[in-house]
This record gives sequence, structure tokens and C-alpha cells, in this order.
Amino acid sequence: MEDIIARAKANKQRIVLPEGSERRTIQAADRLIGDDVAHIILLGDPEEIAELASELNLKHIKSAAIIDPKNHDKKEIYANLLFRLRQKKGMTPEKAAELVEDPLYLACLMIKNGDADGEIAGAQNFTSDVLRPALQIIKTQPGISAVSGAFLMFTQTAQYGENGVLLFADCAVMPNPTSEELATTAIASAQTVRTILNMEPRVAMLSFSTKGSARHEMVDKVITATRLAKEKDPLLAIDGELQVDAALVPEVAERKAPGSSVAGKANVLIFPSLDAGNIGYKLVQRFGNAEALGPILQGTAAPVNDLSRGCTIDDIYKMVAITANQAIALKNSGSR
Ligand code: ACO
Repeated sequence: MEDIIARAKANKQRIVLPEGSERRTIQAADRLIGDDVAHIILLGDPEEIAELASELNLKHIKSAAIIDPKNHDKKEIYANLLFRLRQKKGMTPEKAAELVEDPLYLACLMIKNGDADGEIAGAQNFTSDVLRPALQIIKTQPGISAVSGAFLMFTQTAQYGENGVLLFADCAVMPNPTSEELATTAIASAQTVRTILNMEPRVAMLSFSTKGSARHEMVDKVITATRLAKEKDPLLAIDGELQVDAALVPEVAERKAPGSSVAGKANVLIFPSLDAGNIGYKLVQRFGNAEALGPILQGTAAPVNDLSRGCTIDDIYKMVAITANQAIALKNSGSR
């Protein structure tokens, strides 16, 4: 995390927080400004934000840009942008004028219009409500067909992953991914590991079968996904289908998947369904006392990240730094 925060400080990005009058969010914003990690834009009623800042005795929040979604200079510009972007999907000028007052839509429109570099929300809102405007307005990066959600898992088990650090995906977005969507998740996860963790990815495509030990259409889906991901990125260290013990434990890997470049040393786990991914990361978090940071949305054309409604101030702080790193990586790659 120290490296991630240092990279954010070295190239400050404009991060918009749509839940501007949420207590944990405003406290995280205050710390982020004080530590000089990012330029913070808070969306919300300025009076409510000022009252909360005074109640919480926040010292730095006066340096944040505060935008009232119901009343600001660019309201019409964003409403027109939303109408133009979604006209073919049945958007009307009236509906656009209404939606633009929704902070979750406004944040995405600001990013689309070049007025912010990334967004974090979800301390108050459901994941689906955070994701939908991002999928509709910001869309995917070139070459990525599906957005997925990953968790950085800082575990207590140094023998697994990279000193106990792993990336799990998809834990947040696609309930029942196709082989193509699983392959895309694998490619995007490898990219996340490179840009955020500065590590070389070793990707395991998880299943309840290892190398033909079971036959089922769900196993076939993972086998096809592995083949498609290899076609998309022939240099990527990826293998499947693997059971999770074969992916992580060298002795099991030797028996079940001998000769694999990934089995026994995977640092990226791709789950075959959202049930598996979402339940899996929570089990590791709760039983293993792991820190789970995310979901980090992968594959969007600009970074939008979600929070768990149970998040802490510290989680929000770290997720802003991660979002800033994604924004910097996209700019460096020329995609933004
Ligand atoms: N990647 C890229 N685009 C997508 C994706 C995706 N994975 N999913 C949907 N879209 C696009 C669609 O193509 C569509 O675009 P268009 O309107 O321009 O044609 C737009 O997003 C809306 O799609 P819908 O299918 O109408 O949206 P839907 O209502 O199904 O919402 C959503 C999509 C929000 C991602 C949905 O799949 C969902 O709710 N997923 C589960 C979220 C969740 O609850 N996660 C678990 C909790 S997270 C946690 O515990 C940390």
C-alpha cells in the first residue's frame, strides 16, 4: 500500500466522491487532502457537507472542490452529454435532466467530460447502482469486452501468492460469466496486478476439476476460457482448469498438474462464477483474517470503484489511492 500511495502522491489525480456527505467518506477525504494523495471532488449539498465537516472538526476539507448536483454551472452540459450518449437507448432530454442530479450519474459524466480522473462510491449505495452508470457512460477499454471486479487479498499466509498477496476475480460484477467473459477477466486481472501491485501475474483458472479430473459443462466453460485467454495473450502465465489447492499448494500441484507454470504458485485466482468469487473472498477474509481491498473494477475506460457498505475510513482512503493508480496507468498507456 505504501508504494501505491506514493505513486498517487507523485502524480495527483482528481477523484470524485459522489457520497460527499457520508461520514466515513468525508473523513477519508479530509485525510487524503491532508496527506496530499489526490485532488478531491465531493458531490453533495454544500451546507450539509460544511455542517458535517464542522461537527467532525475536519481541518482540510475546505480544500476539496464541492459540487451540488442540483445546482452548478455545468448541469446543462452534462445533461446534454448524457442525452447524446444514451439517446439510442431511449434516453430523453427530460430523463437526462433528472438523472444528472443523481450523484452516481454526475460522477461518471464528469469523468466522461474530462473533469475528473476517477470515482469511488458504495459506502451508501448498492454495488449495482454504482456500476450501472459506469457501464452505461464510461464503458469498457478498447480490447476489453466485459467489466469485472477484483479484490486485492492481503492474507496471513506468506507461502501463497506473492508473500501472501493475491488478486481474486470476478467477485463483484458478472453473475454467470461466459467463457469469453472469464477470459477477459483473466486478461484484465493480469493487467491490474501489473499496474497496481507491480508484480508479474500467474493466473489460475479455477474449477472443481484439475486437468480433466471431472467432466461437466461447468468444467468445459473454464477449459474454453483458458484457451481463449491464451489466444488473447500468448505470453501470459495462465493455466486451467485447476482446483484451488492445485493452484496454490506446490505439493498438490506436483501431483495434480505436473509441469504447469502456474499451479502451486498462482497469485491471481479467476473464479468460474460470481457465487464462487464473492463467497470465496469473504471466506478468506473472515476465516483467514485477510484484508480484502475492493472491488476494484477492471476494464472500464476510466477508473470507477465500488466500496462495501461496511467499509472503514481506511478502506476508502486506500481505494482512492488505488483508483488514482489506475487513472495514472490508463494515462500512461495512452488510453485516456
Ligand atoms: N461489462 C461491460 N458492460 C456491461 C457489463 C459488464 N460486465 N454488464 C452490463 N454491462 C452493460 C450492458 O451492456 C448495458 O450497456 P448498454 O445499456 O449501453 O447496452 C449496461 O451495462 C446496462 O446493462 P444491464 O444488463 O441493463 O444492467 P443490469 O441491470 O444487468 O446491471 C450489473 C449490470 C449492475 C453489473 C449487474 O450485472 C449486477 O447487478 N451485478 C451484480 C452486482 C452485485 O450485486 N455484486 C455483488 C456484491 S459486490 C460485493 O459483495 C463487494
